[in-house]
Amino acid sequence: MERRNFLKAAASTAAALVFGRRGALAQQADSHIEILVDEPIGTIAPEIYGHFTEHLGSVIYDGIYVGEGSKIANQHGLRSALIEKMRAIKAPVVRWPGGCFADSYDWRDGVGPKAKRPRRTNFWTDAFPAAQQKLNIPQVFDPNTFGTDDFVRFCKLSGAEPYIAANLRSLSPLDFDHWVEYCNSPRGTTTLAETREADGTPDPYNVRYWGVGNESWGCGGNFDPEDYANEFKRYTTWVPSYGVPLRFVASGPNSDEQAWTRGFFNKLFRGQPSHDMHGVWGLSIHHYAWNLSRGKTQDWDAGKGDALKFDPIDWYELCRETERIEGVILDHWTALGQFDLDHKIKLVVDEYGPWYRPGTENAPEQLLGQQITVRDAVMTALSLDTFNRHADKVGMAACAQLVNCLNSLFLSYGDKFATTPVFNVFEMYAAHQGGTALRTEFSSPEARYDRDGKPASFAGLKGSASLKGKTLVLTATNPDVSQPREAQIAVRGAKVASAKAWVVAESDTHAHNTFEHPDAVKTRAAEVAVRPDSLTFTFPPASVTKIVVELS
Ligand code: AHR
Repeated sequence: MERRNFLKAAASTAAALVFGRRGALAQQADSHIEILVDEPIGTIAPEIYGHFTEHLGSVIYDGIYVGEGSKIANQHGLRSALIEKMRAIKAPVVRWPGGCFADSYDWRDGVGPKAKRPRRTNFWTDAFPAAQQKLNIPQVFDPNTFGTDDFVRFCKLSGAEPYIAANLRSLSPLDFDHWVEYCNSPRGTTTLAETREADGTPDPYNVRYWGVGNESWGCGGNFDPEDYANEFKRYTTWVPSYGVPLRFVASGPNSDEQAWTRGFFNKLFRGQPSHDMHGVWGLSIHHYAWNLSRGKTQDWDAGKGDALKFDPIDWYELCRETERIEGVILDHWTALGQFDLDHKIKLVVDEYGPWYRPGTENAPEQLLGQQITVRDAVMTALSLDTFNRHADKVGMAACAQLVNCLNSLFLSYGDKFATTPVFNVFEMYAAHQGGTALRTEFSSPEARYDRDGKPASFAGLKGSASLKGKTLVLTATNPDVSQPREAQIAVRGAKVASAKAWVVAESDTHAHNTFEHPDAVKTRAAEVAVRPDSLTFTFPPASVTKIVVELS
């Protein structure tokens, strides 16, 4: 049966009864999902499941780095509990040192004997309240005890690849060359290789991923796209590679500003569409979601929604903001296609997640810290499913930011450490890494709500599917805060042998983990009714689900 006809027929056959849990006849499905095994989209780059870390608040100091002498369990000063969890989610790549911080960072400050390293004013110092700006704490005046070696070690211990963002605003192209030389020149060759060896690592780091500036339209230098294209050329032409295939990520637009992307590529490609990538491996895109539309004020902080106090309208408005990433991906992919004739350049969504107003952080020095609820798990899953659906376009992504910050997977404060519901999502979704994304159609009633007196709606079930060998992984969100969705799931082009499901859902959408209750939000196993060509599953309200199907 044609895909469209199937969906139509399935939706309108009132008499069709489907098997429910444990084979009992259940109510009619209100939703239909069709997985088309013979319609591959592309390989899901494991790097889509990457993370972002910045010298901002307590991401690095306290979050990742507790210091060699700390009583907190550590490996070379790096928090052991965090490393263990990074391995559990198969973290593929970590971006560092920023963010905006990157364009103020001199990498030389962070190498050599730790006791001799300079203390510098952190880029974010002015964002602290005046009284805290005077505090001699690492969040305000960076002691540089965490530098390149510590970052690469953190990546290696975590099983991830490093992705370093270079300073384009306040250092020179030669400084960039030297940073690459410090990281990648072979043992015993250059003076910087000797410096690295003296710092404890004789063998090169072979760092492949290099960001060339960050938000160069803003904190990264206030450039026009054409000027940035000129800078990009200066920084990336003939950088020594030492046999490492360097992958340069160009700074992308402010939100969905396509003029930036077109202006940058037009200048870089000298107005000529080409089969040559002109040194660009990826174009960075940042997309944060917030509730500004309902804010009482346009003030940058106060105008945002609260991480813990929200109603269903806030929930759906944030869903809408989160979902905008799909349009941004499509717009910039189209813009790229005007120049990159083979579509070899990939999109790199290296900052994304909800961003709330201050006030829920665990400690005052945790700048941009916020609590993470079931709502954030659903928003993160919406984003990851979008990246999977566009596996042919998105080459890498990084959730902002790893610990004690915006959409964090982890919270820490001294010896206290906890995972958040966003961690549960990354744990579930790791199964997609390296799989082949499959075209998957969803037909589900929209979530309807009253938006301050006006009827409004948001999509029903949304998700993605991938195949690795005979294992099919379907992930989906039910954004409806009150309605479960009973779905019939058809697997076209294959036979189902067995299926298992895991769900993140709590009766209270505000549920979140704390140091006192670190397991308040759980991933629970759930039952799937299995038939040879289809499955039936009830997606709870406000939930994230993974169904792993073994094909015969
Ligand atoms: O993640 C916080 C900040 O948001 C980053 O430093 C910057 O790149 C973005 O504007």
